[in-house]
Amino acid sequence: MATPAEKATAAGLNADLVMLDGFVEVEFMVDRLKRVKDLPIRDDDILLCTFPKSGTHWTWEILNMIVAGKAEYAKHWQNSAWLEYRTEEELEALASPRILHTHLRPSQLPETVWDKRCKVVYVRRNPKDCVVSSFSQMSKQIWKDNPTGKPSYTGTWDDFIDLYLNGCIPIGAYFEHTIEWTNISEAKKNFEICKVHYEDMKQDCVREIRRMADYLGRPLSDKTYQDISEACSFTNLKHANEKLKDQTYHFHWQGDSSGYFRKGTTGDWKNWFTVAQSERFDRVYEERLNETFPY
Ligand code: A3P
Repeated sequence: MATPAEKATAAGLNADLVMLDGFVEVEFMVDRLKRVKDLPIRDDDILLCTFPKSGTHWTWEILNMIVAGKAEYAKHWQNSAWLEYRTEEELEALASPRILHTHLRPSQLPETVWDKRCKVVYVRRNPKDCVVSSFSQMSKQIWKDNPTGKPSYTGTWDDFIDLYLNGCIPIGAYFEHTIEWTNISEAKKNFEICKVHYEDMKQDCVREIRRMADYLGRPLSDKTYQDISEACSFTNLKHANEKLKDQTYHFHWQGDSSGYFRKGTTGDWKNWFTVAQSERFDRVYEERLNETFPY
């Protein structure tokens, strides 16, 4: 029987895929993932934990501004502080408090995150919008360093949904990721995390920024919350990343696209899913997470 990695390759995922601890991973990430558990964690580290395409860039910039106490863009792209991707030396070079972002499940993180009771912000987004966002990126954008010159995915939309629901996409086991993160407080002796929803940020970003600042113990003035919200609007943040920031840590893509700022809306999935695809998605979601599809 084909492994999930082989299924993904057959469906059109153009990367060297392997199985690691039962999950599909890109081969070049395996060593990095194995060393994550031993990475040094500082008492004042802040972790931003997301499933891919949930609004990581957006929230990372907001957290940086909260820590800075002003609406000033961080110098680099968020990938400068990607826990499982950067080398230990690169992470060590970051000034405290570091705002490290990760797509990993809690069980993959260093134990010291929990021992030191680091601050953890966890962002969720309607998974149907995440699928659309992933598909758009992986099928339309070609990573400049990709030696094949092909997009990461050249299969059909229907197969992509199927891979997604079956956890066959690298860093893409949505249900396992969500189950672990939603149960983390109980699993780690009432560990207090700050849960944020992309949809809530779209609805009232100032309110959500205030909530994050309170959680971090870094309250700011109402005016600063407004300024941060404005600076981090889709249009402004896209401009800042593409035109103002140092591009050293940005993954470059062919063409004009910055790769990460596409539409920035809620409910785009309705333009993509057929009724049958949506119903199937809801059904699997309900089976796996034991709750009604909440979006
Ligand atoms: P879309 O592809 O639906 O537009 P991540 O940063 O986790 O990779 O998530 C990327 C998604 O967040 C993309 O979604 C991107 O457009 C959206 N996004 C980025 N910045 C945003 C912002 N300031 N406001 C709303 N959405 C934003």
